[in-house]
Amino acid sequence: MSSIRPVNIALIGAGRIGSFHAESVARRLVDANLVAIADPASGAAEALASKLDAPKSFTDVAAVLADPDVEAVIIATPARFHSSIAVQAAEAGKAVFCEKPMALTLEDANRVIAATKSAKVPLQIGFNRRWDQSFAEGRAAIDEGKVGTPQLLRSLTRDPGPYGGSPEKTPLWTIFYETLIHDFDTLLWLNPGARPVEVTAIADALIRPDFKDKGFHDTAVVTIRFDNGSIAVAEANFSASYGYDIRGEVFGSDGMITMGDVRRSSMTLFDKNGVSNDTWRRDTDHFVHGYTAQLASFVNAVRGAALVGPTGEDARAALAIALACIKSVSENRTVSLSGF
Ligand SMILES: NC(=O)c1ccc[n+]([C@@H]2O[C@H](COP(=O)([O-])OP(=O)(O)OC[C@H]3O[C@@H](n4cnc5c(N)ncnc54)[C@H](O)[C@@H]3O)[C@@H](O)[C@H]2O)c1
Repeated sequence: MSSIRPVNIALIGAGRIGSFHAESVARRLVDANLVAIADPASGAAEALASKLDAPKSFTDVAAVLADPDVEAVIIATPARFHSSIAVQAAEAGKAVFCEKPMALTLEDANRVIAATKSAKVPLQIGFNRRWDQSFAEGRAAIDEGKVGTPQLLRSLTRDPGPYGGSPEKTPLWTIFYETLIHDFDTLLWLNPGARPVEVTAIADALIRPDFKDKGFHDTAVVTIRFDNGSIAVAEANFSASYGYDIRGEVFGSDGMITMGDVRRSSMTLFDKNGVSNDTWRRDTDHFVHGYTAQLASFVNAVRGAALVGPTGEDARAALAIALACIKSVSENRTVSLSGF
């Protein structure tokens, strides 16, 4: 008999990634129970609860936060609701796992950090790349001094194509708030101790130029200067024809590490056309282990272990870069991070 006490978790927001996280809690974690799901969309929580055998479903988020059986919540709503729900959850005494971005303004980020500190509940953010084996080993190599002092860093997100999104329904600046925010966290995490000082961003609508005049961006490049002299480049595009391509690179005084591989596995086909590999097509396939490991770590923190995952302060730091990018694109200039 296991002596591990399962942690009772509720999902708030039963959409694409929330459903996947709920499945992780219910089916992939051995020490957590999925006890409730909340989503205001008619039938969404009920259908997912039925599929995953969760005992309760709600259309009212306040009801799930008032439930004494719930110890922790996973917030996977659209980004604009994250900070207010995180604050309410902390005030209700629930541990908080919040999808990125934690907030859309620094003031709201500060509120989430203050509320979780005041309630003494763990707060972990869904920067899942840190849990991918390749990226985790990269950070370990940096900690062991294997590349020396970082000088050039690179992080990229190329979502799988063909692009099937709806530009008219995509909130403005999504490419910075929701896509490149992963890269900003990755670059900060791979450059431990360094502070970003300056950001220059350019963005365009190359996939859907017909939406450019409405402020839609599907392609962006960002340079970040750090106070240790290093320079980082982050780039994103919403439609990589060949798959879901996530990579990182750190070049330092003593060497270089590269992380990430669009190839699904080492299975290589040799045939009349040559040599080929299949590629990742979905985040939930590529990062299934990382997504699960981040929740396993969160569960440990809820049970009292030290939080090792990305914190509210980490989310705030990545958000500051996203906000500086928005200013940089809007004003067509380099932006200092000193005011953020
Ligand atoms: N870490 C990652 O790799 C990753 C991947 C995908 C999405 N995300 C993030 O997760 C969040 C959700 O993305 P998604 O693609 O699953 O969105 P989605 O639109 O598929 O799902 C959002 C769900 O939240 C529900 N919802 C709306 N308002 C709500 C409210 N006030 N309270 C509770 N539920 C509410 C909607 O009905 C919907 O079911 C976004 O912030 C996104 O950036 C992160």
